[in-house]
Amino acid sequence: MTDQTPVTETAAQPVATPVLPDAQTVTQVRHWTDRLFSFRVTRPQSLRFRSGEFVMIGLMGDNGRPLLRAYSIASPSWDDELEFYSIKVPDGPLTSRLQHIEVGDQIILRPKPVGTLVHDALLPGKTLWFFATGTGIAPFASLVREPETYENYDRVILCHTCREVAELEYGKQLVEALADDPLIGEFIGDKLTYYPTTTREESPVMGRVTDRLRSGEIFRDLGLPEITRENDRAMVCGSMALNTELKEILEGYGLREGANSDPAEYVVEKAFVGEGT
Ligand code: A2P
Repeated sequence: MTDQTPVTETAAQPVATPVLPDAQTVTQVRHWTDRLFSFRVTRPQSLRFRSGEFVMIGLMGDNGRPLLRAYSIASPSWDDELEFYSIKVPDGPLTSRLQHIEVGDQIILRPKPVGTLVHDALLPGKTLWFFATGTGIAPFASLVREPETYENYDRVILCHTCREVAELEYGKQLVEALADDPLIGEFIGDKLTYYPTTTREESPVMGRVTDRLRSGEIFRDLGLPEITRENDRAMVCGSMALNTELKEILEGYGLREGANSDPAEYVVEKAFVGEGT
């Protein structure tokens, strides 16, 4: 990439702009609401990651030091570029600036992917549940585009709870585009079900996903039996409150928390929900 081209050939010339460490170039920006945006950047050639993992990204701070935050990679592992989905926090040190990036700008991306929302952390099962709130959908935006997801499971349920309908739009458009996707469409077939709910604005399915699990409404809506350790696997990504509640619910069904080194029936990760939260 031009950003990382060694400067030896131009060493005799004055360097106008300092080259960012681990710089990647922004290729697309989309603003979904006044609180949410997504963007795509070039992918370092050497970067390998498993769908569902996160990396540290950011901008150079005013003090000349990188200002970095953890962001789930929202694109699948086979994509040529990297996609991210972010909240905008008006006085957040990073997102107050990051929300203004434009195509051609550079961001810093540390190429060291990590995370627990990966297939390796789950034992084989039949139905895979993705539970997300807000920007917690990002790792699942990666995993629903990953062929392995459909090779490993017969059914995949993407649950996304947001306050308002407009906050569901990123996930909605993503799922709609999948059916016709030339690369992933045939893997998906009829295996993927999208289950969006809102809590503060009228929509077809209202309420927190946790409440709909407890009441059993979600199983009735989807025509599925209750979750069992034998059949079901789950990945959870949202606020601390959501994660804690869902852990309790899933353990109530007999599921155990897994890790890369010790796979089991469910995994959890805190979403990048903002700065100082
Ligand atoms: P609610 O409107 O009832 O708080 P936020 O925008 O605050 O990150 O929240 C995103 C979504 O997650 C909202 O719809 C919110 O519902 C929901 N939510 C917050 N806490 C929980 C929880 N403990 N369990 C399930 N959903 C939650």
